[in-house]
Amino acid sequence: MIVLLLVSLIAIIIYWKYRRDRKHLYELSNILAGPGCVPVLGHSHWFIGSPEMDLWKSHRRVILPIFQNRLIEDFIEVFGEQGSILVKRLENEVGKPEFDVFKYITSCMLDIVFETAMGERMDVQHNPDTRYMCARNAVMSIINMRLFKPWMQPDALFNLTKQSKIQKDNIDITHKFTDEVVMRKRKDHENGKINEGRKDLLELLLTRDMKLTNEELREHIDSITIAGNDTTALVVSYALQLLGHHQAEQELVHKELQNIFGDSSRQPNKEDLMKMEYLERVIKETMRLFTVVPLIARRTQKEVKLSSLSVPAGVGCAVVPRALHRSARLWGADAGRFNPDRFRPEHSARRHPCAFIPFSYGARNCIGRHFGMLVMKSILANVLRSYKVKSSACGKLKIEILLFPVSGHLITLEKREMRT
Ligand code: HEM
Repeated sequence: MIVLLLVSLIAIIIYWKYRRDRKHLYELSNILAGPGCVPVLGHSHWFIGSPEMDLWKSHRRVILPIFQNRLIEDFIEVFGEQGSILVKRLENEVGKPEFDVFKYITSCMLDIVFETAMGERMDVQHNPDTRYMCARNAVMSIINMRLFKPWMQPDALFNLTKQSKIQKDNIDITHKFTDEVVMRKRKDHENGKINEGRKDLLELLLTRDMKLTNEELREHIDSITIAGNDTTALVVSYALQLLGHHQAEQELVHKELQNIFGDSSRQPNKEDLMKMEYLERVIKETMRLFTVVPLIARRTQKEVKLSSLSVPAGVGCAVVPRALHRSARLWGADAGRFNPDRFRPEHSARRHPCAFIPFSYGARNCIGRHFGMLVMKSILANVLRSYKVKSSACGKLKIEILLFPVSGHLITLEKREMRT
C-alpha cells in the first residue's frame, strides 16, 4: 500500500512539473537533432519555440534566402517526376475497396524532400523499408510516445527503459546518413566541384556567408526534411478525401486541369501551377477545415497587451489555428462546410490576416509555405488528372503532434482516360 502511494505521489509530482514547465519538451526536441544548444528551425513544428532566440534569429536569416520563390521553382521538375511515380503506384488500387492514401502520398513527399534538400534519390516510393527510413520512423514514434506519456519524459526514468537504447541506436543511424551526405557535399564545395544545374538546399546552404558547421548543416537538413514531409502529405490526403466526398468541387478541379493540360499527361510546369486557381482555393479550404498543425505554442518574451486583457512576460500561451479556422464569427454560420470559394480574392480581401494561419503568422511562420503550395498543387494535379476519387466523410481526428484521422484517409479510385 505504502509503495503504491509513493509511486502515485511520484507520478503526480512528475505530471505537475510537466504541466508547469514545458522545458522537457525542448529537451525532447533536442534529442532529435543533436547538440542541445542549437535552436534548429523546424523544432517549432514539434516542440514550441526555442529558448535561444538570438541563435534562432541568425539561423533563420541564413535559411530564409534559400527558400526564395526563384530557387524553389527549380524543384518543380522533381515534384512532377515523383508525382508521376505516385500515379503509377496508385494504379494498384484502381477498382479496389477503400484504402489509406496517406501512406502513398507520404512516401512520394519523402522522395521529394530528400531530393530537394540534399540531392539524394532515396526511392522510398519503391523501397519504404530502407535502414534509414526504419530508423527515422522508430525515433519519431518514440518522441511521439514520450510527448503523451509524461512519466517517460524525465531522462532519468527514460534512460532506464529499453526504448532509450532503441532511440540512441536509431538516431546514430539517421545521423550517420545525413553526416555522410553533408561531408561529401562540403568536400565537393571546397574543391570547387560546383553543380552547374539545379542546386539542392544543402548546396545552397554551403554557399551562404555565415559558415555553418557540419553538425548545424545536418540539423537544418534533418529539420527541413521532417517539417516538410508529413505536413504537406497530410494536406494532400485530406484534400483528396474532401474532393472524394464533394464530387461537384472535384469536377470543377478536373475542368480546370483539362483547360490547362487538355488530354496531355505532361508534367506540370511553373506556368501550369500558377493557373491552378481553383485547386489553390481547394487546398486553402482543406487547410482551413483540417489544420494539420492544430496548435502553436509560445512563451511571451515581454508583456503582451490584447484588446481585453494583457499577458505577462514568461507565460506559456497556445494559439489554436484550428479553433480560429472553424470560428463562426470569422467564417460565418456555415464555417464547418467545405466551400473553396471562401478563398476567392474578393472574399479573402475582407478577412483579417490572422483569420487564416495554417502556416502560422509573424516572425516564426513557416519558411516552406511557397515550396509546400507548389508541391501540393503538383501532386494533386497529377492524381486528379488520372483518377476520379470517391470517399465518405472524414471521421474522428487525433493529434499525434500533427492532426491525423483516426481511421486514415480512406478513398477509392477510378481511372480517367488520358490520350498522350
Ligand atoms: C502544408 C504544408 C505545411 C504546413 C501546414 C506547415 C506549417 C508550419 C507551421 C504552422 C509552422 C510554425 C510552427 C510554430 O511556429 O511553432 C511551420 C514552421 C516551419 N516550417 Fe512548415 N509547414 C508546411 C510545409 C513546410 C515545408 C514544405 C517546409 C520545408 C521544405 C517547411 C519548413 C518549415 C520550417 C523550417 C519551419 C520552422 C521555421 C522557424 O522556426 O523559424 N514547412 N510550418
